[in-house]
Amino acid sequence: RLTTISLERVVDSTNMMAMREIHQQNIISGRLYLAEYQAAGKGRRGRTWVSPFAKNLYFSLVWRFTQGAAALEGLSLVVGLALVKALSSLGVSRVQVKWPNDLLVDSKKLAGILLEMHGDASGECQVVIGVGVNVAMPAQSEEGIGQPWTDLQRLTNGDISRNQLMSEVLNHLVPELDRFSEHGFAVFREEWQQVHAFQNETVRLMLGSKEIVGECQGVDDRGALMVRHGGVVEHFHAGEISVRRQ
Ligand code: BTN
Repeated sequence: RLTTISLERVVDSTNMMAMREIHQQNIISGRLYLAEYQAAGKGRRGRTWVSPFAKNLYFSLVWRFTQGAAALEGLSLVVGLALVKALSSLGVSRVQVKWPNDLLVDSKKLAGILLEMHGDASGECQVVIGVGVNVAMPAQSEEGIGQPWTDLQRLTNGDISRNQLMSEVLNHLVPELDRFSEHGFAVFREEWQQVHAFQNETVRLMLGSKEIVGECQGVDDRGALMVRHGGVVEHFHAGEISVRRQ
């Protein structure tokens, strides 16, 4: 459950704030960090998350899991699905997920998720669930982003406030995290595939310098991506893999 909310004007990164507290040996499950501005917002794969002041939603939620890091493979997919549901309840439809955890509308990025784990593979673990949702990105931010993007203002004429969005995200995310703790990813699989941007499409996977082209068959019960290529279906685990439409 949610325990505390900390709202700051300026931070380096809400994920970094949360990680620092965890490293001070604090058990801070259920703490939500929100910021108006991130001077060093972090994206996946070492990228920067463009975080202009008071324009978008930037938050990190710390959640404690007891089943060990290995069982958390599907967590980022569950977070993505919870965001899709929250947006849909606010009237934003057509949002899709890109494995493992981007939110897209018409192939443009609306939100990103960055999970950071602290704990060991077999036992207790605290996860920082970092989420950035583009709400009203100023046009001049375009250069820093480096990929096609959209925001809620462009999708809805600006009638969704950041407060409303944060509430609706928590209303969906908290129960889904509990359901995931109890049942694992398998119970989310069908629903996730229904909003999967690349379901049954030809995709190109980049694994370091290696490239694989195949038919994307969705995800397995643990959340690994299934791609048919060369006559076999291979299961890919998140990490340093990126996937795009062929
Ligand atoms: C990605 O798609 O690359 C992940 C982006 C995650 C951005 C959020 S914004 C709040 C939290 N704090 C950070 O520094 N990053 C995450």
